[in-house]
Parts: sequence; C-alpha cells; structure tokens
Amino acid sequence: MFILESDRLIVRRFCDDDWKDLYEYLSQETVVIYEPYNVFSEEACKQEAVNRSQNDAFWAVCLKENNKLIGNIYFKQQDPKEFLTWEIGYVFNPPYYGKGYATEASRRILQYGFEQRGAHRIIGKCNPENASSWRLMERLSMKREGYFRKPAFFTKSFDGKPIWHDAYQYSILSEEFFSAE
Ligand SMILES: CC(C)(COP(=O)(O)OP(=O)(O)OC[C@H]1O[C@@H](n2cnc3c(N)ncnc32)[C@H](O)[C@@H]1OP(=O)(O)O)[C@@H](O)C(=O)NCCC(=O)NCCS
Repeated sequence: MFILESDRLIVRRFCDDDWKDLYEYLSQETVVIYEPYNVFSEEACKQEAVNRSQNDAFWAVCLKENNKLIGNIYFKQQDPKEFLTWEIGYVFNPPYYGKGYATEASRRILQYGFEQRGAHRIIGKCNPENASSWRLMERLSMKREGYFRKPAFFTKSFDGKPIWHDAYQYSILSEEFFSAE
C-alpha cells in the first residue's frame, strides 16, 4: 500500500475495515458541524469506508504507535487541472485534538502535493467561526487570501431556507513551501 510517513503518523489510503474508527468521530455532531454532511450512522460509515477506499482524495491518518485511525485528510485537485491547484481539508477524532496531529498530517500532505504531485498552489477553505481550522492553516504557513460572503450553505432552516455562511480561503504556493524548508 502507498503510504506517507511523518514522525508520529502514517497517512494511507482507506480500507473497508476503517469504518469503526470513522464512526467514532463521524457520528459526533460537534465534529461534523462545519462539514457539508450530517452525522453518520454505523451502516453509513461501513459504506463510507468502502467509498473512501475507492476515492484517492481521502487519506486516513493513523498513529504509528498503535495503528489507530485518528482522522482523515481530504486532498483533491481542482479544475482546470492545468492550474495545478489542490484543495486540502481535514476532520479528526476529538480525543486526538490539541496534540499537533492534524498539523503534522496536513504538512505531510502538503509535502506530497508539492513534491510528488507537482502542485503549484494548495488552498483550504473554512467558516470564519471555525477557528480551529483557520488556526491550523496558519500553523501550516498558509496565507489568508480571501473572505467570501455567504458562498455556501450546509444546512437549512426549519422552513427550508438555506443558512448561508461566510468563508475564509487560505493558500500556500510551492515556492513558499520550499523556501520554508
Ligand atoms: C480542525 C481540526 C482538525 C483541528 O484540530 P487541532 O487539534 O486544533 O489541530 P492539531 O492536531 O494540529 O493540534 C494543534 C494544537 O495542538 C497543540 N500542539 C501540541 N503538540 C503539538 C505539536 N507537536 N505540533 C503542533 N501543535 C501541537 C497546538 O499548540 C495546538 O493547540 P491550541 O489549539 O491550543 O493552539 C479539528 O478541530 C477538527 O477535526 N474539527 C472538526 C472538523 C472540522 O471542522 N474540520 C475543518 C472543516 S473546514
């Protein structure tokens, strides 16, 4: 299996058996509040693990010390492909917050993107209220390049109206990544 390694982590493709670890965090309301989906049931996680095992945008992040899957990174090339731009996203299991694991895994994915995929630019987006997310991007030396006004909604009000939210966009360029090394 193709894996990426960092000090404390293995970042690898998903496999069908990952559903239990996925369920541990995707079943929690507080984890998915800024995601474009709702909490997952056990059954949905079984299917999601299969889906992710066939989708190379999803990376499972595991602790080296015990192989526990503690979160995931999303890393997908944007269109048009010739612009060599990828988007990064991340969702982790709460007991593993506050230890730098998401930063370490994301940094490894940035390295993979710039060194192995030939990325020119990597972007990330988040709700401005999601300080954990934009602070993570700042730890990665990504720069805030935009504030988008209500570009998207993930939920609707009781009467079916979209609840629009604002978004920050961050980016890092290959020359910035390599000059920081
Ligand atoms: C976004 C998310 C992954 C960030 O998790 P996180 O725990 O804050 O990030 P890290 O794992 O990088 O840990 C960083 C924290 O660990 C601390 N830390 C401890 N050891 C560290 C180390 N070796 N390296 C870096 N930071 C370390 C940092 O100081 C920081 O603490 P602080 O939050 O008090 O400043 C997490 O909040 C999450 O999964 N949220 C739900 C999903 C979500 O909203 N995703 C984003 C949608 S846009």
